Amino acid sequence: KTKVLTGITTTGTPHLGNYVGAIRPAIEESRDENIQSYLFLADYHALIKGRDPKRIHQSGLEIAATWLALGLDTDRVTFYRQSDIPEIMELNWIVGCMTAKGLMNRAHAYKASTQANQEAGESDLDKGILMGLFNYPILMAADILMFNANRVPVGRDQVQHLEMARDIAGRMNHHYKTRFVMPEAVVGENTAVLNGLDGRKMSKSYDNTIPLFVPEKKLLKLIRKIKTNSLEPGEPKDPATCTLFQIFSAFATEAEIAEKRKQYEAGAGWGDLKNELFEYINTVLTEPRERYNALMADPAFIEAELKKGAEKARAEAAPFLQDIRKKVGISPFA
Ligand code: TYM
Repeated sequence: KTKVLTGITTTGTPHLGNYVGAIRPAIEESRDENIQSYLFLADYHALIKGRDPKRIHQSGLEIAATWLALGLDTDRVTFYRQSDIPEIMELNWIVGCMTAKGLMNRAHAYKASTQANQEAGESDLDKGILMGLFNYPILMAADILMFNANRVPVGRDQVQHLEMARDIAGRMNHHYKTRFVMPEAVVGENTAVLNGLDGRKMSKSYDNTIPLFVPEKKLLKLIRKIKTNSLEPGEPKDPATCTLFQIFSAFATEAEIAEKRKQYEAGAGWGDLKNELFEYINTVLTEPRERYNALMADPAFIEAELKKGAEKARAEAAPFLQDIRKKVGISPFA
């Protein structure tokens, strides 16, 4: 079976970008008989940025409730919390010992931080940068390689990490004769980078997100806040440069997108276009939102689901890691 794996970092409330970039494609694939899915809460990753234990805990609950509300079948899928699988952390160390520091120097998140220091005129480019951030792609490689995932549905921001995971897998396979599968990023055409309220990439760190399951009124309010230009009703608008159109395209069918494009070009007003976007998304989200709210009121149920998932995940991870230990020479003497 083809293995599909993806994770969400538990640092915030899941937003439309997470949904279209990773959650929706992963759920769609999980329904395929020929696919075995591994979907998880990346809570170790959350410690890289999150310093508020309550927030991390709450975010984990929200992300888990989101997956379940969207109809994840936990009997078919392995649905777990990263930190419940200690084998991942052990693999993280083992593969880290085969990872070139130079490769990590090139990671986007780390480079962005050193660049920010440079622009601020710091003489120490590593000032304030923590090892968690530097090692982030190694842990992500361990997540993926642990279950030999073939396909990893993600937004474009994660593609480099997939390349790194392949590099690390290749080194392991070459030196230790392991048989790690080479994972591939799966990135959607209309969903690779969804923009946020201010027109930049929708991201927890820019505080420009539209959370997936905000109450209806708040959803309308946020959609009305999406930045547009100053063209008046009657003036033709360019869909290609418009966040509103981009978000619509991430949800609608090809035919609906073509229809909407005509409306833009015919000079529809921003107010109407915003109301229509709200109606469209709200229709899609109403039912799962209700399920989400019910799930959020029942953390014990979510915990039980995660426990079930952890057992399934460890049943695979433990023997696999045992074999890796043997291959690298750290198994018991016999
Ligand atoms: P995270 O938590 O930042 O984001 C979760 C997923 O959502 C995608 N995404 C977006 N897609 C389209 N448009 C956007 N604006 C947008 N914002 C976020 C991300 O690309 C991602 O797919 N390191 C990962 C979590 C992780 C992981 C893994 C993923 C840990 N281990 C193993 C896959 C496999 C992260 O921080 O994602």
